[in-house]
Amino acid sequence: MKTIHTIAELRETLAGYPSAPVFVPTMGNLHDGHLALIRQARGLADEAGAGRSPVVSSIFVNRLQFGPNEDFDRYPRTLERDAGLLAGAGCDILFAPDEAELYPEPQGYTVVPPDGLAKLLEGEFRPGFFTGVCTVVAKLFNIVQPRAAVFGKKDYQQLMVIRGMVRQMAMPIQIVPGDTARAADGLALSSRNGYLSESERAEAVQLSGVLKQVQADVKAARQQGQGTLADIDRRAQDTLRQCGWLPDYVSVRRQADLLPPTAEQLLGQEPLVVLAAAKLGATRLIDNLEI
Ligand code: PAF
Repeated sequence: MKTIHTIAELRETLAGYPSAPVFVPTMGNLHDGHLALIRQARGLADEAGAGRSPVVSSIFVNRLQFGPNEDFDRYPRTLERDAGLLAGAGCDILFAPDEAELYPEPQGYTVVPPDGLAKLLEGEFRPGFFTGVCTVVAKLFNIVQPRAAVFGKKDYQQLMVIRGMVRQMAMPIQIVPGDTARAADGLALSSRNGYLSESERAEAVQLSGVLKQVQADVKAARQQGQGTLADIDRRAQDTLRQCGWLPDYVSVRRQADLLPPTAEQLLGQEPLVVLAAAKLGATRLIDNLEI
C-alpha cells in the first residue's frame, strides 16, 4: 500500500490505473468496522469486468464537521497503526492530507444539504455537522474521482445525506452501504468507544439493547394493531435514563426520508428504522436498527 499526502501525487498515481477507484473515506483511528468497509470496497474493485480498480481510503479529521464543544482536538490521530490495518485489509492507496493540503485557504465554498433531511436528528443536536461532512466528502470525491464509495450504515443519516448530494448534484459515483460491525455484546463499533471507561464500556451495551427493545415494541404493535410512536420512543428513552444515559433522541423514522411514520405506517408495512444518540458520561454514541 502506498501512503500519499498531497493531492498532486494522488492524482498522478491514480492516472496510472486503467479504471477509477473504489473509495472509503474515514477520519482514522480505525476499528474492525472500517476494515469491513475496506474489504467490501476490495470486493467491489475486484468484481469481474471492473478492470484493475484500486481501493483508496482517506484519513482526514475534518475540522468543518466538529462543533465548538466537540472532540476535534482530542480525536485520536493514529496514522501509523491505521496504515498497517488498511494494508492488511486490501487497501491500495491511503490518502492522508494534512489540513493545509485540504484547506489551504478558509473553505468559503460549502455544500449545504437541505434542511428537511439535514436539520433532523443529528442535525438538530450538531448544527452544521452535515454541511461539514458534505463539503469534505464533495471535495474528496473531486480529488479521488471514485466510481463507487462505501459508507457505513452506523452513520445512517450521513449515508442518506451523501446519497442525496450525489443524486442531486449528478455525481457519477455509486454509493454503497456497509453493514454496522458490532462487538460480541452488540455495541456498534465506533472510534468514540475508545473514550469509554471500563464501567462505561460495560454499560454501553444498553444502547443497542434499547434499539432491540424498540424493534420488538414496533413488531408487537403491528401484531396487535395498536400502539403509538410517542409511547414507544418514550419507553426507550426512559430505559436509557434509568441506566444513567442522557439521550438526545431515540426515534422511530421512515427509512425513505427519516420523517416520523404516520399512525397507519407505524402499524402497517412501511420500512422503518430506529435511530438513537445518547451520552454516557462525556461520550456521545449513536446507533440505529432497521425494522
Ligand atoms: O464518517 C466519517 O468518518 C466522516 O464523517 C467522513 C465521511 C469521513 C467525512 O469526514
